[in-house]
Amino acid sequence: MTIRTITRLAAGTALVALSVGVAHAQEESVEVLHWWTAGGEAAAVGVLKENLEGEGITWSDMPVAGGSGQAAMTALRARVTSGDPPTAVQMLGYDIKDWAELGVVANLNELAEEEGWDEVIPAAIQEFSKYDDQWIAAPVNVHSTNWLWINKAAFDEYGGEEPQDMDELYTMLDAFEEQGIIPLAHGGQPWQDGTLWEAVVLSVGGMDFYKQAIIDLDEEALSGDTMREVFDHMTKLSGYFDENFTGRDFNLTTAMVIEGEAGAQEMGDWAKAEFLNADQVPGEDFVCMRFPGTQGDVLFNSDQFVMFEVGEDKRDAQLKMASAVMDPAFQVAFNTVKGSVPARTDIEDTEFDDCGKKGMQELAEAAENGTLAGSLAHGHAQPSAVKEAVFDVVTQHLNGQISTDEALEQLPQAIASAQ
Ligand code: GAL
Repeated sequence: MTIRTITRLAAGTALVALSVGVAHAQEESVEVLHWWTAGGEAAAVGVLKENLEGEGITWSDMPVAGGSGQAAMTALRARVTSGDPPTAVQMLGYDIKDWAELGVVANLNELAEEEGWDEVIPAAIQEFSKYDDQWIAAPVNVHSTNWLWINKAAFDEYGGEEPQDMDELYTMLDAFEEQGIIPLAHGGQPWQDGTLWEAVVLSVGGMDFYKQAIIDLDEEALSGDTMREVFDHMTKLSGYFDENFTGRDFNLTTAMVIEGEAGAQEMGDWAKAEFLNADQVPGEDFVCMRFPGTQGDVLFNSDQFVMFEVGEDKRDAQLKMASAVMDPAFQVAFNTVKGSVPARTDIEDTEFDDCGKKGMQELAEAAENGTLAGSLAHGHAQPSAVKEAVFDVVTQHLNGQISTDEALEQLPQAIASAQ
């Protein structure tokens, strides 16, 4: 090798090294942990990812499947314990408080102040976005859990009105049975059992009772006659499930309604994303209505991106992501796909479909009327330990492993020992 070749090679290597260095300096990325893996959810993630990529931020995906995020939270614990938290994490209510308490989350106050988050995020959500008066999370949406999704063709064939209470619901489900379809599609996973159960609690007992039992954890409410009725309804509802319900994911369950194999499903409004993702139109292909007996009441949960304490090199991208999540146009683009409504209150409903418009209006009214409460099944009523204690009892009862008497005895006990 001549001296000239060696010099040329060395110069070349230096050039490559230099350009790699430049690329590193310019490349900003965020690693995002989330559990949005169902079709409709993934479509919504796509909106966020594209938005950030438009700003030159690379999206490093860390999806952990499992509705309502239990598995995601386990994965998060492992990452934080090893001292390598993701940049941003999708999270719900009380879990946010728990992580904030550990002092591992970033402070977003400066950005929040600059962009006026205090003025546009409702108090019920700020309760979870802030810790010690510091903004620590950017809320991307508000979901609600007390919805019923009905196949429109089956509903038309039934020919009745939208059911307004449990009795009318049974009349409709009986009609679906006569049509030869599965009356009620249900996915037997603890969080889905809990989602159905909290809707029945609200339907049977009303909002005051929900607050007494679920928010105040009043022992009499948890074990008395109204709760007995709730568990009896759960038993009766399970008679309308198909025999393969155990362990089924929520989106596969929604698919049964989409395909007309089943008549209806009780589920949060992320189910709407599945209908939309299958090109179905509200009012034409499916009906969205409040779970019978819960009209005017809203059980909410809000997906927030909690920003973790990361190195200075990642801080800029992190703040850009928080800002992008809070952008009004983004909240429209994202939530029209996700099935949720914006977390911001200063957004018009024009771009939203009929279910979304209804969701936005009812959320505002419920906040005004005091008929808004956090969803237990989705982390906005109690810390995880209590939520899981309730799931245990509800799931065992729904699967026929314990009687209603036993459920009523165990529910307050399980809650007490989880506290
Ligand atoms: C909820 C979450 C929603 C939706 C759902 C099912 O807890 O808030 O965004 O993804 O779980 O996975």
